[in-house]
Amino acid sequence: MHTGFNEELDRLIRARYTLLYVVTWEEDRALRILMRLAETQRKPLYEWSITNGLRCIHGAAGQGSGSRTRDPMQMLNEVLQKDGPAIYVLKDFHSYLEAPEMIRQVRDLGSALGPTKKTLVFLSPVLKLPRELEKDMTILDLPLPTYEELSQLLDESIGRPSSARKFQVRLRPQDRDALVKAAQGLTMKEAENAFAQAIVRDNVLDAQDIQAVVSEKRQVIRKSGLLEYYDVAADLADVGGMDVLKDWLRKRVRAFSDEARTYGLPQPRGILLMGVQGCGKSLVAKTIARHWQLPLLRMDMSMIFQGYIGSSEQNMRSATKTAESLAPVVLWIDEIEKAFSGVEGSGSSDAGTTARVVGTFLTWIQEKTAPVFVVATANEVRELPPELLRKGRLDEIFFVDLPRSRERAEIFAIHLHKVRREPMKYDLHELVEASRGFSGAEIEQAIIAGLHESFFDNRELETRDILKAIHDTVPLSRTMREKVEELRLWARDRARPVTTLPEKSSEKGPDE
Ligand SMILES: Nc1ncnc2c1ncn2[C@@H]1O[C@H](COP(=O)(O)OP(=O)(O)OP(=O)(O)O)[C@@H](O)[C@H]1O
Ligand SMILES: [Mg+2]
Repeated sequence: MHTGFNEELDRLIRARYTLLYVVTWEEDRALRILMRLAETQRKPLYEWSITNGLRCIHGAAGQGSGSRTRDPMQMLNEVLQKDGPAIYVLKDFHSYLEAPEMIRQVRDLGSALGPTKKTLVFLSPVLKLPRELEKDMTILDLPLPTYEELSQLLDESIGRPSSARKFQVRLRPQDRDALVKAAQGLTMKEAENAFAQAIVRDNVLDAQDIQAVVSEKRQVIRKSGLLEYYDVAADLADVGGMDVLKDWLRKRVRAFSDEARTYGLPQPRGILLMGVQGCGKSLVAKTIARHWQLPLLRMDMSMIFQGYIGSSEQNMRSATKTAESLAPVVLWIDEIEKAFSGVEGSGSSDAGTTARVVGTFLTWIQEKTAPVFVVATANEVRELPPELLRKGRLDEIFFVDLPRSRERAEIFAIHLHKVRREPMKYDLHELVEASRGFSGAEIEQAIIAGLHESFFDNRELETRDILKAIHDTVPLSRTMREKVEELRLWARDRARPVTTLPEKSSEKGPDE
């Protein structure tokens, strides 16, 4: 079982925290944990729901006993008056927490229950808490099942006597391991379904079922709308330049292994890639996971903030929870500044919510123990909260500038290759000189424009076609010169350049 969560819950109840709020979709699992906990603490466990009222589900009084009171207010009064220590689980109580008299009552209970060793556990799939109760209530997220729990579930699924039909299990130890890992990120119920489906599909449980469980998981994660599994074809070799960053990444290939922990290395936390538009921030971010052979998850900040106000916090919690359950994993957050734009009371009505969500996120980055490597990209510095940039949050802040000449040569070569041309056949020197101030994206576009030209003329692509396209382009670094300058100025003492290449005097500015 999830020892971290169980221990925390146990500790809080022993320490006489009276109001706990457990957020989970897995009601049964949470109840099982509470049941065991009640047993070790020798306290009766009561459950309340609007349909069944208040009743004892474990302990001295006997299962099913209890007043069966359904009225929420009356139930709380009863709890107060009952004798002796006990744990009360209130299911879906969040809907009743809105009324002023209810808020008052719960707050009163919060202080009154302490000496009597009674605890109220609010159990609900959504976190919805009136401001007034925030300080009195301790919130806990039930983590998704661990590897061990899923492994046990797999054993149970295979050995279930009720599955009368015959099936074969052909799993080598490594397949079994992969199958359990494939289910990580699912709830117990979802994993149970995924295993059951894998079994009935062809009555054989073997390595072929791993993929099916993985796709089931993709579905589930996509449905949440907050995270997306990302398949990437690009590799580090598809990124031109950025030698410092590449070296940094290469050196950390084994940084998530047990070996690294034993060696004494802390878990890498993440990086922020700042920089000029079109210079490959998103591109390199995507390749990191592949280089490290980890899954890549993309977090969509706009989805986190969608939904009705008040639920964004919940979205953030559930996204980070899912990411953790899939660890080790790379969590890519593209254009992170967009999420922060509402923080400083920009007049938008939900500035408070945004600030809180951002706070939740930053705290998570700081405190997460699971190996979730965050790769955030941004091209706007003003919107970024200073807390994100503080040392210790992330491992490094990199600045991605316009590519220098040697880097442009690499980018030309990469993209010529992509369109099935042999780079040696082109005058790279001339192209590099002509494309000063160009971003990688603009270089790519110039090659494509050149291809159109030559294709239209029914002949092979030549250097002059690309040169013409370059001359016809006004690079962003020229049209947005001030912005680029501002960014560079900002980065000078705050970020680490992704490249060691010296700036040639002739290449100081983007368009000189
Ligand atoms: N250094 C590079 N090496 C190879 N290709 C590059 C490089 N930089 C940019 N490109 C090409 O340009 C495309 C766009 O770049 P990308 O989206 O990664 O830029 P970005 O820095 O994320 O820009 P933005 O700030 O607009 O999001 C890439 O998909 C790639 O094809
Ligand atoms: Mg980008």
